[in-house]
Amino acid sequence: MTDPATIDLSKDAAARAAVQLVENGMKLGLGTGSTAKVFVDRLAERVHAEGMDLRCASTSKATADQARELGLVVMELDDLGWLDLTIDGADEVDPDLNLIKGGGAAHLREKIVATASDRMVVVADQGKVVDCLGKFKLPVEVIPFGWQSTRTHIERVLEELGMAERPAILRERDGKPVLTDESNLILDLALEQIHDARALARGLSSIAGVVEHGLFLNICSLAIIGCPDGSVVEL
Ligand code: 5RP
Repeated sequence: MTDPATIDLSKDAAARAAVQLVENGMKLGLGTGSTAKVFVDRLAERVHAEGMDLRCASTSKATADQARELGLVVMELDDLGWLDLTIDGADEVDPDLNLIKGGGAAHLREKIVATASDRMVVVADQGKVVDCLGKFKLPVEVIPFGWQSTRTHIERVLEELGMAERPAILRERDGKPVLTDESNLILDLALEQIHDARALARGLSSIAGVVEHGLFLNICSLAIIGCPDGSVVEL
């Protein structure tokens, strides 16, 4: 287990490198989570130091609040239209740059923003890099109406893919269901290894009560992996 201070240094290294990808005049997507938060801090420093003119769309209320407090311009995605670049964190990154996201329950907006951008770049520490996706429980956002029926459908899809008896766990905090920014629920799928991510993504997307799953396939074009010594590795 890597200690938290080492992970913080790694996140900072990744964030500093990602800030260098930002150009004056860009329309930028801002991610959610602790690494994205460090990125927003570093971004605001550069914007103020260089007097940059940026307009940002946020993937969550939390990031929008942070960015506005730091003096960044945050607008609705629909008012900005297409974005030049989105920088976000990830829960897992595989060698093909496929991701699991949604640890912060924001993957729906994160996917909308990332896929409305010319380019999505992930910032992460080395602990997020995996050979095969699935160790991190896969978040699936579901509509509250009939969510238990939706869970049954999800479990059937898993069974069809040979992932039988994998529980879909309702995400809770302080004994209450976690609600997303869209007031939906999150089911976390304990899968261990996802051998056919495309088939799983198709199966989950075919279920009526599923709003969005946390598999980001062919969306990310670069992952900047920070190291505690301040260096980065690009995938
Ligand atoms: C939120 C996300 C985050 O990007 C992901 O959970 C990584 O977060 P962190 O940088 O805190 O590890 O997908 O929905």
